Amino acid sequence: MQEAKTRLIYDFQSHFYDQLASRTLAHRQRAAIKRMHIQPGQRVLDIGIGTGLCLDAYPDHCHVVGLDLSERMLAKARRKVARLDLHNVDLLCADAMFCNFAPQSFDHILLSHVISVVSDPVQLIRLAYYVGKPGCRIVIINHFRSANRMIGLIETLICPLCVHLGWRSDLSLQELIKATGLHVDYRYKIESVDLWETVFARIPDSVDHTVLRRSA
Ligand SMILES: C[S@@+](CC[C@H](N)C(=O)[O-])C[C@H]1O[C@@H](n2cnc3c(N)ncnc32)[C@H](O)[C@@H]1O
Repeated sequence: MQEAKTRLIYDFQSHFYDQLASRTLAHRQRAAIKRMHIQPGQRVLDIGIGTGLCLDAYPDHCHVVGLDLSERMLAKARRKVARLDLHNVDLLCADAMFCNFAPQSFDHILLSHVISVVSDPVQLIRLAYYVGKPGCRIVIINHFRSANRMIGLIETLICPLCVHLGWRSDLSLQELIKATGLHVDYRYKIESVDLWETVFARIPDSVDHTVLRRSA
């Protein structure tokens, strides 16, 4: 099963993840959390929270649930929670594909560099639909396959190598939208040449929660 291998990869990466990601990934996450305009009392689900790179960016007035497969990544996050004396964060070690949150329990869901890590991105979005309240904001930060045919081909070719590093390089945002009906409000890149994109989306109004319950 892919998740068992992924857990090992990120257990290993936990030793150096913050050093790498604080320079390359953190600023996108901070900018996205700021734009989420999280209101007092709202609940946020951060799926694949890893080391909790930007835990301090969440406002004190919300409640954050961080979920991750890798206990070693989470151990780093737990240390941050203690060091920063955060009282509004719960961290859980679990496979997001099988977690059993109550339906409609979150106002915002953040998928930061995780949608192309899980074995089934469509199923992860369906889970977000299930646990998100109506109108829940779903924010995805990720690398997506380029629409440029040549670059897209290269990303497909190097994908087997990337899988060894713990993520896929060939995930297409268009295909994900087509498969899930995700309602994208807007998307942006932070730099003019940027490998990563931020997508602000919502659960589509047409989602049938009874169907999701059967498949989640
Ligand atoms: C590239 S890291 C991203 C960490 C963090 N979100 C960030 O942006 O810095 C991917 C994380 O997703 C976690 N992950 C992968 N598959 C998962 C799953 N099925 N359920 C929960 N977490 C998962 C990994 O353990 C890893 O910590």
